[in-house]
Amino acid sequence: MTDDFLLKPTIRPRRLRAFPAMRNLIAETRVSPSQLMLPAFVRDGIEEAVEIPSLPGVFQHTVESIRELAAECVQAGVGGIMLFGIPNTADKDAQGSPAWDPNGILNRGIRAVREEVGNDLVVGADTCLDEFTSHGHCGVVTADGQVDNDATLPLYAKMALSQARAGAHMVAPSGMMDGQIAVIRAALDDAGFTDTVILAYSAKYASAFFGPFRDAVACSLEGDRRSYQQDPRNRREGVFETQLDLTEGADMVMVKPAGYYLDVLADVAEMSPVPVAAYQVSGEYAMLEAAAANGWIDRERAIDESLHAIVRAGADMVLTYWALEYAQRDN
Ligand code: PBG
Repeated sequence: MTDDFLLKPTIRPRRLRAFPAMRNLIAETRVSPSQLMLPAFVRDGIEEAVEIPSLPGVFQHTVESIRELAAECVQAGVGGIMLFGIPNTADKDAQGSPAWDPNGILNRGIRAVREEVGNDLVVGADTCLDEFTSHGHCGVVTADGQVDNDATLPLYAKMALSQARAGAHMVAPSGMMDGQIAVIRAALDDAGFTDTVILAYSAKYASAFFGPFRDAVACSLEGDRRSYQQDPRNRREGVFETQLDLTEGADMVMVKPAGYYLDVLADVAEMSPVPVAAYQVSGEYAMLEAAAANGWIDRERAIDESLHAIVRAGADMVLTYWALEYAQRDN
């Protein structure tokens, strides 16, 4: 009996892996299109959508084409869309004023998309100045070249308010200024937008994986964002930043990037009483697409694995450039 036991296992985890229906029945993690948000770019001054070279399959949209994209998202059952604006270079200034202009490109994009989808898709907007400033930083810059935290806060408040007025269900402050959630909440509430959701980019790291995004938004940045985005070497700090945003009134919190920060994501998921988002960023997308284009990796399997890993680590929702494709596939 003892010999038999040693030679022949009685406990066999492989039983549950034998065929697809069995595996599907007991899978611990599911990724549903309704928990995905598609980041999307709307650009001023273009006649038709332009594909972004470093993000194959992702486009800079016109106001009209982003409206169509949003309609496709509804059709496919995607949960939400997160809008980014790209103004004409000539309109950028030191403050980033096209960001809160009611007729600025992002606000026009929000209005068009909201008109198209109503409440069938959650319409979010990135609340950050970097696409709109001539120097490319996420805030105003002092004479000696520092990004001025407190001088930036009122501009975020103005920007968020203009986005709420344009129809955004959700504003998503991503600039990593201290205190940004509190000032935005106060500005929204004072103007009667008590129901506008704040998705806080809480644990956002100064990541090399944002590279292709900066091409996508024609970012003017010289230098880096290490004086305001987090140091990739720090884990505990992700929880601390999240606690602060919760105290200030964040309705949802986010970890960004996602795939290389699953430890931070797991920590945040553990402590957060509110929904947790993760942003699978441009570099995560571009690397996998490049490897797949070379025939070095099975594209769809790798996409699925990357999304399931993020949800397995604790994300309730995922921002991903594959949102529409994933939803359109038969899952
Ligand atoms: C800031 C912002 C960035 C991204 C989302 N919001 C760029 C940055 O912080 O430099 C990056 C997203 C991505 O890489 O996909 N507006």
